[in-house]
Amino acid sequence: MITLAVSSLKGGVGKTTCAINLAFSCAKRGWKTLLVDADPQGSVGLSLSPSAQTYAGLYEIVTQNKSIEDAALKTKLGNLRIVMAGKIPIGEISKWCSSLENGQSLENFFKAAQEAGYDLVVLDTPSGLHGPTEGILRNVSHVLVPQQCEPLALRSLMMTVDFLNQLQSEKENSCELVGVVLTMADSEVPDSKQIVDEIRRILPPELVMTALLPRDPAVVRASMKGMPLGLMRGDAPPPAAIVFDQLAAELEGKLGLSRPETSDEYVSLVV
Ligand SMILES: Nc1ncnc2c1ncn2[C@@H]1O[C@H](COP(=O)(O)OP(=O)(O)OP(=O)(O)O)[C@@H](O)[C@H]1O
Ligand SMILES: [Mg+2]
Repeated sequence: MITLAVSSLKGGVGKTTCAINLAFSCAKRGWKTLLVDADPQGSVGLSLSPSAQTYAGLYEIVTQNKSIEDAALKTKLGNLRIVMAGKIPIGEISKWCSSLENGQSLENFFKAAQEAGYDLVVLDTPSGLHGPTEGILRNVSHVLVPQQCEPLALRSLMMTVDFLNQLQSEKENSCELVGVVLTMADSEVPDSKQIVDEIRRILPPELVMTALLPRDPAVVRASMKGMPLGLMRGDAPPPAAIVFDQLAAELEGKLGLSRPETSDEYVSLVV
């Protein structure tokens, strides 16, 4: 089972957007996927359902021994379930963050997810590389780093990469940086294009995902409606929905999720 954190030092770079839409695309490709809101803000829930804060979630699984089976919400895709953040009492937030930081609770959670047969667990994390996010990064197998195409984000990128390298040097089998995904790229803005070129110049090519997420108003619309981009019905899929499908396909190989039988052998449409 792959455990993939979507994390970055900087806030507002598109982590929650990536986690939701990537989990959706991976599930569509056939992977049994669990999307987990590990941000005490509950951003996945806030992006998907007005009643998210009434659902049990990671908090109840970890602190009250609720089972994944009971807490994971079903979705329109049979392969995708979601564990919301849970009903975290306001006075317990810092205790909850310490418990994620500690890591033991996550280890048990991942064991249960593996027993339940998940192929992939995608975790949306709070911004920063300390506290709960550090605890998560110490316990997942992989991390994907969204990187907004703007100058300030560029400055924090190397800190993120250095931190992940240090983590790997400290602990055997610690998380692997699967890639940096560039987000909110604006083809109309020369500075945005310059940042894309700069990041591709600075980082080893294998660390920068080919899929380039455009700044797409459909992302905000989807978030307002509480749906992943892939469920939006229009004359054509939004550009960002297509790129999330590309990103999922690209990540499959990097995460070792590819199975020979999933390649395009002859499959009859007619049954
Ligand atoms: N590709 C995109 N095009 C347009 N808007 C986007 C795109 N990606 C994200 N956004 C918008 O940018 C804002 C920040 O995105 P998001 O919440 O995913 O970032 P985050 O890194 O999870 O933030 P935080 O650090 O607060 O958790 C949101 O309003 C989101 O709708
Ligand atoms: Mg977020």
